[in-house]
Amino acid sequence: MWPLVGHAQVDIAVMELNQFKIKHIGSTMLTPSVAQLTFIRSDQLPFGFIPGQFITFLLPHASGKTIPRSYSLANSPGDKLDIAIAPVAGGFATSILFNLKIGDELHCVGPKGRLILQTVEGPSQYILVATGTGVAPYRSMLPAIAQRLEADAKLKVTLLLGVRYANDLLYAEDFIAFAQKYERFHFRGYLSRADVLTAPYHYAGYVQSAFEALNLNPMTDLVYLCGNPYMIDDSIEKLQTMGFNPQRIKREKYISRGV
Ligand SMILES: Cc1cc2nc3c(=O)[nH]c(=O)nc-3n(C[C@H](O)[C@H](O)[C@H](O)COP(=O)(O)OP(=O)(O)OC[C@H]3O[C@@H](n4cnc5c(N)ncnc54)[C@H](O)[C@@H]3O)c2cc1C
Ligand SMILES: NC(=O)c1ccc[n+]([C@@H]2O[C@H](COP(=O)([O-])OP(=O)(O)OC[C@H]3O[C@@H](n4cnc5c(N)ncnc54)[C@H](OP(=O)(O)O)[C@@H]3O)[C@@H](O)[C@H]2O)c1
Repeated sequence: MWPLVGHAQVDIAVMELNQFKIKHIGSTMLTPSVAQLTFIRSDQLPFGFIPGQFITFLLPHASGKTIPRSYSLANSPGDKLDIAIAPVAGGFATSILFNLKIGDELHCVGPKGRLILQTVEGPSQYILVATGTGVAPYRSMLPAIAQRLEADAKLKVTLLLGVRYANDLLYAEDFIAFAQKYERFHFRGYLSRADVLTAPYHYAGYVQSAFEALNLNPMTDLVYLCGNPYMIDDSIEKLQTMGFNPQRIKREKYISRGV
């Protein structure tokens, strides 16, 4: 439970941030369990954000409190907002967001977040690591990644996405198509529970098992981590052992704050 003072603080923060209403205009299933929800601003203004950022829904609770829940933006900036949401059994936001009807409106604040592409000097690579819906920020970044790859002939980008089974690889078609267009972009799907690997981009195990094989350079590479908090903690420990300092590791933990 949040203390009352916590809510007062959030309300002040909300007033200072960009608060607006959004309208639900469509939804589709990305995988057997993950839904993509699409919104526009209710005032129909465009929504400016930097790829990699998230918005926070301010959801009404039966107690009268407003409960915040954050979701990464999965599309690049434009007229609409896409989020990819994984269900959590008994989850408060899950029960609201998975039951939205077309035209329903929600209050939200944003954009927020610092998981954004940073320019690095010299030969380098970006390693973009995600579990589950943590891949949404990287989908949003694709046009920006394309620009970087076109501007820097030495740059490499590798995306590692960890899920349980092959059909949980959300947005895989987008990343595969992007890899076909840009030969210095590589996509690997890590499957934690699959018995067989059926595609050349399938790998067994957890995403961080790729770190040794990728021949990372802690002096020039930038690693982004997004999603499951245990994956992030394990990855940071491994990267630091490999010589990465914290400035070269960007992260966004998808932690639930409770009701
Ligand atoms: C910056 C940020 C960005 C985020 N972006 C996304 C996104 O793009 N897509 C997305 O789906 N989620 C995202 N999340 C997570 C999201 O905000 C919610 O935490 C998530 O949707 C669960 O909310 P809920 O209210 O349904 O569950 P809650 O009511 O918060 O959770 C119910 C209970 O389940 C526990 N719990 C929550 N998740 C799990 C789990 N996976 N396994 C076991 N127990 C769990 C909680 O601790 C709690 O006890 C993001 C979080 C942050 C902080
Ligand atoms: N504490 C929390 O608040 C918490 C924790 C987890 C997820 N979440 C959120 O809950 C929602 C539903 O999550 P989801 O089912 O899509 O994904 P998820 O629970 O994050 O699982 C996605 C993948 O990550 C793997 N994974 C688990 N632990 C890992 C670790 N230490 N290192 C590397 N990979 C690891 C899972 O493997 P296995 O399952 O096979 O082990 C699975 O393949 C999301 O919003 C998610 O971000 C919240």
